[in-house]
Amino acid sequence: MAVKDGENKKVTPKDGENKKVTAKDRENKKMTVKDGEDKKMTVLEVKDLCKTYVVNKRQNNVLRNVSFSVDEGEMVAVMGPSGSGKSTLLYAVSGMDGATGGNVLFDGKDLMGLSAKELARLRLNEMGFIFQQMYMMNNLTILDNIVLPAMESKKTSESRKEKIMRGEDLMRKLDIIQVADNDINEVSGGQLQRACICRSMINRPRVLFADEPTGSLNRNASDEVMDELVKLNKEGTTVMMVTHDARVAARCSRVLYLVDGNIKGEYKSPAGGDVKEKDRERMLNNWLMELGW
Ligand SMILES: Nc1ncnc2c1ncn2[C@@H]1O[C@H](COP(=O)(O)OP(=O)(O)OP(=O)(O)O)[C@@H](O)[C@H]1O
Ligand SMILES: [Mg+2]
Repeated sequence: MAVKDGENKKVTPKDGENKKVTAKDRENKKMTVKDGEDKKMTVLEVKDLCKTYVVNKRQNNVLRNVSFSVDEGEMVAVMGPSGSGKSTLLYAVSGMDGATGGNVLFDGKDLMGLSAKELARLRLNEMGFIFQQMYMMNNLTILDNIVLPAMESKKTSESRKEKIMRGEDLMRKLDIIQVADNDINEVSGGQLQRACICRSMINRPRVLFADEPTGSLNRNASDEVMDELVKLNKEGTTVMMVTHDARVAARCSRVLYLVDGNIKGEYKSPAGGDVKEKDRERMLNNWLMELGW
């Protein structure tokens, strides 16, 4: 949890209140941030989240009372040993998979209380996903894949043409416009990952969830993808990502360290651009080593 001593000033709608965040709320939030006060809005609140798998009658308690919250505009990395429950956590908090117990509040709405249709709409319109196993469709071009979630969404009254133009704008921004008409097997791994980012951003989500978005990339491509994610975060998109790479996590504002389905530690990155990237990475590595990384 983003625990700041005595500073519990988060604007979190009460459970089940389904409070919509208005443009005015956002404006107020911007003003308070400008004022230098730490009164950010909580976009994700996870309380006592539990997930148990039963395989061959054996119970595996993968998530054990996990609690934390994410403020709007944060960039949070989840790290931890293989099998510690990172992907399970990401799937549960993004409504991709159910939980066995606890609550996940997205903008104050309890995901467990939503109908399948409401959950699907929330996920389509307010969340973006970069998950390794969510492959693009191979009978569509890269651009068509990117634009597909916009075609399925009624979030805006944009025309088909406008949606396509927005897809192209995103591709330009991530420097892959030249492969717009290619099939998904006609691009490099880095280009495909950047295309996944474009697709995840097409409906202008509040929160982007990513499971090892740089996992299959070499160092250069990984840096490029992280540059884009940091840029999107700076523009206001909240990001929660799982990574094994301390170099990647060092660019996030906060790191949660998961062990055996529990948050064992939380690291807040030094604020501002005055700390060099190398130093950020070194400091994070020291912290990770203390936790047995
Ligand atoms: N669908 C499933 N059915 C049964 N058990 C599962 C399922 N998915 C995950 N698990 C188990 O849950 C535990 C946590 O898995 P999870 O994929 O969340 O780990 P992880 O931290 O993401 O690991 P990695 O770093 O290797 O990706 C593992 O013991 C795994 O075997
Ligand atoms: Mg995983």
